[in-house]
Amino acid sequence: MEFIATSKIGLESTVAFQLHKLGIMDTETLDARVLFRGDYTDMATALLWLRSAERVLMTVGTFHADSFDSLFEQTKQLPWNRYLSPRTRIHVNGKSAKSTLFSVSDCQSIVKKAIVESLKASYHVNLIPETEEEVIVEVGILRDEVTLALDCCGAGLSRRGYRTYNVPAPLSETLGAGLILLSRFFPDTPLIDPMCGSGTIPIEAAMIANHIAPSLNRSFAAEQWRFLDDSVFRLARESARDARKGDKLCILGSDIDPHCIELCKKHAKKAGVMIDWKVRPVKELTTAWKDGVLICNPPYGERLSDAESVKSLYREMRTVFDRIPDWQINVITSNRDFESIYGKTADRRRKLSNGGMVCTFYQYYAKRPEN
Ligand SMILES: C[S@@+](CC[C@H](N)C(=O)[O-])C[C@H]1O[C@@H](n2cnc3c(N)ncnc32)[C@H](O)[C@@H]1O
Repeated sequence: MEFIATSKIGLESTVAFQLHKLGIMDTETLDARVLFRGDYTDMATALLWLRSAERVLMTVGTFHADSFDSLFEQTKQLPWNRYLSPRTRIHVNGKSAKSTLFSVSDCQSIVKKAIVESLKASYHVNLIPETEEEVIVEVGILRDEVTLALDCCGAGLSRRGYRTYNVPAPLSETLGAGLILLSRFFPDTPLIDPMCGSGTIPIEAAMIANHIAPSLNRSFAAEQWRFLDDSVFRLARESARDARKGDKLCILGSDIDPHCIELCKKHAKKAGVMIDWKVRPVKELTTAWKDGVLICNPPYGERLSDAESVKSLYREMRTVFDRIPDWQINVITSNRDFESIYGKTADRRRKLSNGGMVCTFYQYYAKRPEN
């Protein structure tokens, strides 16, 4: 079977890397998605373990269509009775880009009608009452190529369940994990986020270091599928529980705002990880760890009133980070002038999107110790 792990642009390589680590080797990386082939156990494993993917979908069929008739006929011919009973509630989501069929709502209703007709024909009934379990069908059209798929997730994979309180401008959990995977972080590497807000980056890092499956404590739409044996998810969860380690971590989150640190403590408790938290302005940053990975998501200064204070914060960051030359420094911001304000050209820049805002992830590699 073919599955699609969707991701934010720029994080595809991290999704492919995680799939390979999970033993799912048959992958193909495209823009904002990674296709993988496997069985239902691979699907359940991917759902539980993928940290930087947004969703996992199971492909039902793909075809070319540039008219509503063609969309209807080809959708109807797919084997819907393999997945849907005569009573399944069918919900269709859709998106279309660079295609003749651009009206998403029309495409959704045509796909729904075609599925209902297909089920009526295969079950020899006149009515599909839609009184039982819901299945979400995704129709995606890109350059007139249609993909029809079942949504395996329900809520997006960023909904891990540990972040119950929010601060202004939090990172999504999937992006937080993606930033860590793009950095040179290993389980025993010290990690600091000196502007940690609700704690997303330190908590995601702690889950990576302790080998905790990020979605262990949530449910998935695929668990409601009638055609899927209950044991698939039960066994995948059991093996995820067994994989968990309790190694001592060198991870620290700090923030100038005491309220944020209170929330971080609650979130870490819910996620089941032990992290050091501190109320501290970035200018007072010190560390006993000689080297490690620092990742931060400072304010961006989007509002005119914040622009000056953000400039002085970025300059202050440079002074402070220069005191720890053996640390790799990573900063995500949408502020286009970041490098000139910070006063240093990054070793690597990666374009990412954060809540619809175009951001850059600036990476400064650590100074190599001299012999
Ligand atoms: C964009 S938010 C970080 C959100 C965080 N990544 C999350 O996922 O919740 C920026 C954070 O920087 C903190 N901050 C602003 N100025 C600071 C300073 N001078 N020192 C330390 N923290 C600061 C704010 O309190 C805020 O929590």
